[in-house]
Amino acid sequence: MYLKSKLLNKETDKKIEALIEKMTLEEKIGQLNQVSLSDVGAFNISAEDKLKMFQNGQISEEEYKKSLNDSKRLSENEEAIRKGLVGSYLGIDNPENIKYLQKIAVEQSRLSIPLLIGCDVVHGYKTTFPIPLAESCSFDDELFFETAAAAAKECKRAGINWTFAPMIDISRDARWGRIAESMGQDTYLAKKFAKQKVKGFQGEDLSADDKIAACAKHFIAYGACEGGRDYNTVDISLEKLYEVYLPPFESAVDSGVCTVMTSFNDINGVPMTANKPLLKDLLREKMGFDGVIVSDAGALYQCITQGYSEDKMSVAEQAFSAGVDIDMTSNIYIKYLKDCVKSGKISEKDIDNSVRNILRLKFALGLFENPYRDISNEENRLCDKDNFELAKKSALHSAVLLKNNGILPIDREKYKNITLIGELCDSTDENHGCWSYYSEHRYDVTLKEALEKEGVHYIRAYGVKDICEDELEKAIENSDLIIACLGESADMSGEAHSYADISLSESQKKAVKMLKSSKKPFVAVLYNGRPMCVADVDESACAVLEGWQLGTRMGEALADILFGRFNPCGKLTVNFPYKSGECPSYYNRVETGRPALNDEATWCSKYDDGRVKPIYPFGYGLSYTSFEYGNLSVEVKENEVVATVDIENTGECDGYEIAQLYIKDLFASRIRPVRELKGYKKVFLKVGEKKSVEFTVPFEELEFYDFNLNRILEKGKFKVFVGGNSNADLSAEFELK
Ligand code: GLC
Repeated sequence: MYLKSKLLNKETDKKIEALIEKMTLEEKIGQLNQVSLSDVGAFNISAEDKLKMFQNGQISEEEYKKSLNDSKRLSENEEAIRKGLVGSYLGIDNPENIKYLQKIAVEQSRLSIPLLIGCDVVHGYKTTFPIPLAESCSFDDELFFETAAAAAKECKRAGINWTFAPMIDISRDARWGRIAESMGQDTYLAKKFAKQKVKGFQGEDLSADDKIAACAKHFIAYGACEGGRDYNTVDISLEKLYEVYLPPFESAVDSGVCTVMTSFNDINGVPMTANKPLLKDLLREKMGFDGVIVSDAGALYQCITQGYSEDKMSVAEQAFSAGVDIDMTSNIYIKYLKDCVKSGKISEKDIDNSVRNILRLKFALGLFENPYRDISNEENRLCDKDNFELAKKSALHSAVLLKNNGILPIDREKYKNITLIGELCDSTDENHGCWSYYSEHRYDVTLKEALEKEGVHYIRAYGVKDICEDELEKAIENSDLIIACLGESADMSGEAHSYADISLSESQKKAVKMLKSSKKPFVAVLYNGRPMCVADVDESACAVLEGWQLGTRMGEALADILFGRFNPCGKLTVNFPYKSGECPSYYNRVETGRPALNDEATWCSKYDDGRVKPIYPFGYGLSYTSFEYGNLSVEVKENEVVATVDIENTGECDGYEIAQLYIKDLFASRIRPVRELKGYKKVFLKVGEKKSVEFTVPFEELEFYDFNLNRILEKGKFKVFVGGNSNADLSAEFELK
């Protein structure tokens, strides 16, 4: 819908048809070919200089060989661009290098077709915002939009015109490292997140100087990989796939997303890269997606490894026939599609359709009119200082207060000697999390820097892999309050970083034990890209603040929260399981016939060495104030249910509350989850203020799929729960007759 509707003007379509008319089959296939090269080493350093750098020890022999290889690949890529055999480029972000490559495409190729330049700007380009798992905890649609728009502005200035984001994979298993990149485990929230991200990146006019193409990824159900092990097989009923994993993509497509990326995983034995029923029949036909489908990196080749495709010729035909327009970096389309056409396996008319999708996108982006970006004064234009305020705001709203015995906000009069400990707060790398290769660290503020400005001492004492007990004992001895940074380093989550054990490392467990036995009060600040099993921290710390990886302004934001300059309001979008073996742990589960009512219960569905409830559940997060809910009423209207509730700030400071509405379908022809989020409202209440909040839930939110994959709405009784987390017990029933 998006591309066609945006480009239905006859003039553009005429230009596209005229171009296709002129193109050779090789040039058409060239548009379907995406190559990659990172900036490092490939550009601007001559072979002689590299040799000198190696000889004087500036780079290792391995780096020297890699950079020579990069230079070789660069010249091959340049040659291919000149011949019109490259349609898009992955991973180049340096503005000069982008302009260098665009000029080759536009000024040195036969048809002057500009390149799509794609990068993984998932939560910021130069200015980094909280990782998506953190930002989702803000439950703030405006923020979801604003941070995407801010990233798009920085990207387009550099010449990046396509981001491989938003990642909208529902993630229920904390062992999966890419949960960091997701918006958590809830489908309703993911739909809202997807919509705002697509609108933020793309806006209403892709040719604008601050808008880029978005990419809904990874289609589909990548987060359901067995065992939470990345790239692993996905075996799932289509009903579950349609109900849990598909809605965020429907939302992205309905919001006009221009591109969709296929996922590495198979679905029930068919790799998504070549999955015709789910790509051509579902995504294209049923959902009406008319944009560009791009494979994931090297995924075509992986179909052979997975034992689906016999060889490269086969996978070229299978992936293309399934609907994949662009082959991301496996070099298979460029080498084998022509033979597929010559042998009649694929028609040139179908190739033309894919080329049309891609050219529409390039026209929509304004690349033919304006292929180059002014890269003067790059420094300031790239890392937009206006974004720093937004980076701070999003960090403040994404942190989650998980425990507080009243010690927060810290009373500086009472605690005069405060020591910050742990390695994670002393490196800008830990602020940014996954997909932050392009981020600018020089403007960062670490928590160590922010707290030292407030007279807090710092002693490293321990890291993720080591501990110095003497340093820790010294810190404990000299302080009347400890702030302990605990968690995992940024490179322990993200792609290809699944963990079987998601508890703290041994060195940190030891540190927690020492802190506990010291009886000195300590506040824990978590740095992590996934839920972690931190029951030991919860049991011994006076307070636990979930800091995630909050980006460029992480340090300042956490300092503001710790000292009460901002009242935390984030709410978790994932469960924090008690033990790794409890994964996947998610709130919207279905009930068993033997529910476990408590940890002592027997003959019921529980782990004898686990806990029935997560340490912290979905939707949970504390404030420095308190909120009370009451007076819930529910009214069934013609096509919707309307629930109204009063919320009062009964505490001692103003603050935001994220009110949540959950619904349980009490009896159904397929058992429904114990509760599902169907509404949230973020309200700001001053001390003593009371507001009436209204939730409207359209009947379609009560539908589910029958065994023929038809959406159905069944009559019967439903229960509404409203409150500040997924265990809310304020409830009311209604019936659809
Ligand atoms: C990676 C990721 C995908 C990313 C792509 C390009 O393997 O799976 O999310 O967009 O390659 O970097």
